[in-house]
Amino acid sequence: MADDADSRRPIIEMRGVDKAFGPNVIFKGMDLTVYEGETLSILGESGSGKSICLKMMLALASPDRGSIKAYGREVGELDDAALLQLRRDVAYVFQDDALFDSMDVLHNVGYALYEHTTMSDDEIRERVIQCLLSVNLPERVVDQFPADLSGGMRKRVGLARAIALQPKVILFDDPTRGLDPQSITIIGRMLKRLHHELKTTSVLATHDLRTALHVSDRLAILDDNRFPYVGTIDELRALKDPEIEGFLYDPEEELWGNVMED
Ligand SMILES: Nc1ncnc2c1ncn2[C@@H]1O[C@H](COP(=O)(O)OP(=O)(O)O)[C@@H](O)[C@H]1O
Ligand SMILES: [Mg+2]
Repeated sequence: MADDADSRRPIIEMRGVDKAFGPNVIFKGMDLTVYEGETLSILGESGSGKSICLKMMLALASPDRGSIKAYGREVGELDDAALLQLRRDVAYVFQDDALFDSMDVLHNVGYALYEHTTMSDDEIRERVIQCLLSVNLPERVVDQFPADLSGGMRKRVGLARAIALQPKVILFDDPTRGLDPQSITIIGRMLKRLHHELKTTSVLATHDLRTALHVSDRLAILDDNRFPYVGTIDELRALKDPEIEGFLYDPEEELWGNVMED
């Protein structure tokens, strides 16, 4: 499917990307484009390269071959200042919440605000509380420590941290991994609402089909070291390809066209 037949502005463009760890080939001739304003889900099995794909977008991992551009510039050629700016514009939400255990939620979420802005302590506290509320966490969480919180709450603190600097793009790495069904539903709804409120471009790496179908404008299926199928849910369904059906149709849940209620 012609993923580049789209007229929207490309934000991230990956072309002809190869990546291997020794004999372990992760990508071979991989192409992927992320367009402004969309929510794109990268769907793939565990260990297929979803996290590496997101990391390469921010030069947190480098390709062996190929081109990776963000906002039209090769990410591997950015100087330190430009890279810092890129990582402010494009937030990465780690798959494991990656919170600092020794810091309370205020300092975890406000970390970049303390480091990179001239905001006062009161202003930071206020912004942090706003971010917590927008990921459905109660205000009191601000003074708690990660160890006091459930897995689902820690995930949401990680999301709050990502939105604190008001990024243009958010890369969500497996946001529902390891969560119970109820937390998965909460995260799915929240991703959708955040997208509407903040008007960010979002990329989700996940093996959670239910959440992907719920939140995405387009899906990119990672298979055979590249993305052979990229498109809207309707476009992918129209292909009537047994392989895609295998990926996207879950007979137990009858997921085709039966997406979570908002
Ligand atoms: N730093 C690394 N060194 C060696 N192998 C790695 C490294 N990072 C990831 N891998 C391997 O690359 C593959 C893809 O990893 P990853 O992107 O984390 O998969 P996913 O996120 O889809 O579960 C896995 O086989 C993993 O073991
Ligand atoms: Mg991963």
